[in-house]
Amino acid sequence: MESRARQVLELYGYQEVRTPLIEDSAVFTRSLGSAEEIVTKQMYLFQDRGGREVALRPEGTASVVRALIERGLDKTGGLTRLYYLGPMFRAERPQAGRRRQFHQLGVEVFGSASPYQDAEVLALLTRLLREAGAGAAVLKINNIGCRQDRPEMVKRLKEYFKGHLDHLCQECKLRLEKNPLRIFDCKQERCRSIAHESNKPSQWACGGCREHFDKARQALDLLGIPYEVDHQIVRGLDYYTRTVFEAVHEGLGAQNAIGAGGRYDDLVGQMGGEPVPAVGFALGLERILMAQEQEAKVSVSSAKRPQVFVATVSPAEIPKGLALAEALREKGIACVNNVDDRPLKRQLEQAEKWGCVLVAIQGEAERSKKVVTVKQMAARAQTEVPEDQWVEKVKELLAG
Ligand code: HAM
Repeated sequence: MESRARQVLELYGYQEVRTPLIEDSAVFTRSLGSAEEIVTKQMYLFQDRGGREVALRPEGTASVVRALIERGLDKTGGLTRLYYLGPMFRAERPQAGRRRQFHQLGVEVFGSASPYQDAEVLALLTRLLREAGAGAAVLKINNIGCRQDRPEMVKRLKEYFKGHLDHLCQECKLRLEKNPLRIFDCKQERCRSIAHESNKPSQWACGGCREHFDKARQALDLLGIPYEVDHQIVRGLDYYTRTVFEAVHEGLGAQNAIGAGGRYDDLVGQMGGEPVPAVGFALGLERILMAQEQEAKVSVSSAKRPQVFVATVSPAEIPKGLALAEALREKGIACVNNVDDRPLKRQLEQAEKWGCVLVAIQGEAERSKKVVTVKQMAARAQTEVPEDQWVEKVKELLAG
């Protein structure tokens, strides 16, 4: 899945960035919002030997922004398109689809405020999910306005939710004080229906933000990318502005977001860089695997299988077997060779188990004739091929 994803990312001109697993905790506390759950409850925080407070990265965006600024890429005036693949850590209670160590594939684009950049990023997300066999996911998008819109939005939402205070859960009562937008994220049925009845946060977005959202939607329509506008999508991190989105795969249970992201036009400036606009998303790879299994209705094995097994008839021949296998690898043919003193029958059983298509053997008898025996597992047929042509013959048989 990862190697296929890399190919898709390259189609769109993204380059890989690798950030450290451990960073100064301020990288996250300052960017994600100090009141956010991910910071208050889910970060693995500890002091290193030098007494510095560090954190295991809970997500990738903050680290990528930190790296961007440190490298001066925020000052180039151009577009920077980056992706990352790797483990993230959140101290949440584990359940189906929620792990303490999980893997994200993330994408971040810096330097464009265009709504068409949002559309392109969503096209990439859609293609990645389709290629991964999770194309049944539903893309939900929303407009949460810009920083200037936020005070009015928060004020109006506070007024509305205060009228329903008695029916909100404990957590949402706190959210009401800190960030009422987050009430839309609550999983409790009662809070959800109260939020559902509220005015759409997007109605307090300014003209510029509305126009931005409309243009992004028009581009999605033009590209034929299906989506739903869902005003309950507000995202759990502080840094978002304007377009936000989630890809949801029905049937994964409570943790059904397989990817999410949005625009974050203020974050680079807030973290000390040039105020370059940005947009990105991250996919949860474990959840994609779950979705994949659901769609295929079978367990998907992603490991690339060796195609050829090089067997040996006596222990003394094992080094020669190694040389035969290396000759195949030299030509890009995946193979495994026997290295243990095991009877041929056992070796063939192993080859069968791995799904090898061919088995190659060169024992004493073959060596004196300068040939290699090539067995076709499925057809239960075998041929002797001259030593100087056997690699070509293997290639031919595999292609045919
Ligand atoms: P996020 O929504 O926190 O966003 O995570 C993105 C995805 O990671 C989720 O949709 C989910 O699939 C997966 N995920 C999150 N937590 C877990 C977990 N505990 N176990 C398994 N999978 C999980 C971000 O992280 C943002 N940095 C995305 C972004 C990039 N926004 C802009 N750029």
